[in-house]
Amino acid sequence: MREETRSAGKRRLFIKTYGCQMNVYDSARMADLLAPLGYESVDAPDGADLVILNTCHIREKAAEKVYSELGRLRPLKEAKAEAGERMIVTVAGCVAQAEGEEIRRRAPVVDLVTGPQSYHRLPEMIAKAHRAAGETLAAEFAVDEKFDRLAGARAVDGPAAFLTVQEGCDKFCTFCVVPYTRGAEWSRPVDQITAEARILAAQGVREITLLGQNVNAYLGAPPAGDGGEGAWGLARLVRHLAKIDGLERIRFTTSHPRDMDDALIAAFAEEPKLMPYLHLPVQSGSDKILTAMNRRHTAAHYLDVIAQVRAARPDIAISGDFIVGFPGETETDFADTLAIVEAVNYAQAFSFKYSVRPGTPAAEMTRQVDEAEKGERLARLQELLGRQQDEFNAAQIGKALPVLFEKSGKREGQLAGRSPYLQAVHVDAPETLIGSIADVRIEAATRYALSGPLAVSASEAV
Ligand code: SAH
Ligand code: SF4
Ligand code: F3S
Repeated sequence: MREETRSAGKRRLFIKTYGCQMNVYDSARMADLLAPLGYESVDAPDGADLVILNTCHIREKAAEKVYSELGRLRPLKEAKAEAGERMIVTVAGCVAQAEGEEIRRRAPVVDLVTGPQSYHRLPEMIAKAHRAAGETLAAEFAVDEKFDRLAGARAVDGPAAFLTVQEGCDKFCTFCVVPYTRGAEWSRPVDQITAEARILAAQGVREITLLGQNVNAYLGAPPAGDGGEGAWGLARLVRHLAKIDGLERIRFTTSHPRDMDDALIAAFAEEPKLMPYLHLPVQSGSDKILTAMNRRHTAAHYLDVIAQVRAARPDIAISGDFIVGFPGETETDFADTLAIVEAVNYAQAFSFKYSVRPGTPAAEMTRQVDEAEKGERLARLQELLGRQQDEFNAAQIGKALPVLFEKSGKREGQLAGRSPYLQAVHVDAPETLIGSIADVRIEAATRYALSGPLAVSASEAV
């Protein structure tokens, strides 16, 4: 098998992705970039010609995972070398950006290091590595801008896809590494995004999630021929993409409370393709902590935004992110976080213990909270958030929800899809429905999924 693959000029590529959806998008695009060089994706690192770890630096644990994975790769690389072949190990993503060449000193198994802003140069870097070993590759490219390079082919994996519209972050929350690893905020031009969305739709994608670390601050160059009205915001972009035939659902993430403008709130009321789900992190319910975090909003402002969004779209599912144990957080501050959770009533949420990130302002703050205290607060917060998630899901029982079927389910004859509120839905339905939207009568709900039968006959699905 190995010989056959070789003789066809094929090389095996294994990519492991950590962190956020933007990394998921970047990994897919790296695979697209490397395909013309003969690299085909495989699902295990054993025997791979190229391994890419697309890493995350957001919390200490995330960053440390990379080093344990590199430890596991070492014997695989050695085994390949013994067979007279080479495994090129690449560290990409946010750890690569934060630590740079230091990674190679700490883990000599690593051949290449490339940050999130420069992975479009990967084909060239890899070609160089091959040349150094006396090998040539099928094709080589010149260096170019990341997204220009990415404008071409896009392999799709099912009817729901991510589409990065904005990179970087200018907010500088005092706990966060993203402004350092992803750089300054930059929005892709509308025409470039539209072209990519059309390519996706033409390949059967029905739902796109527009990605950015601060996606609702999107401000991109308008389409050619727009009459020079200046940059477009996210609401306008969403309405524009909604006109693409075949695209049925649009989502976006992650938003910042400061950047929820009236146009975007109105889009939830007026644009039927914009799904009723908003991920709007608040981090803490205490104004003292929000100030120390440099979040640039108060708890009251956040609640006001939620009230406006709910006025526009009463059924909207609200999701959030929380950090417990930020330096200086007292029991009273934590009680304010529980209170804001009670006030909002979340459909879903992510919550974390504060993790010290070297180089960020919060790492220098005194009054760091004890680990045990953080753990205890996280458990209390998650208990409350879990209960709200149970209630939100249980409230769907008896309703018919339109579900986009994405893939086969765990059981034979079962499909897995998503409701408008991003809940996982399991349904007994034929595989021919993958890529379609059909109503499902919700009969059961757990914390993580809904289930029930099709409410229409399979032939009536869109
Ligand atoms: N741009 C998004 C997401 C950033 S990272 C936003 O602004 O919300 C995703 C989440 O990780 C953050 O919302 C925050 O809750 C969490 N996070 C970031 N830095 C962290 C740290 N140092 N310790 C613990 N959690 C952190
Ligand atoms: Fe990090 Fe804050 Fe930017 Fe989000 S808004 S990426 S939490 S700095
Ligand atoms: Fe992690 Fe980088 Fe995303 S630090 S959360 S992979 S932007």
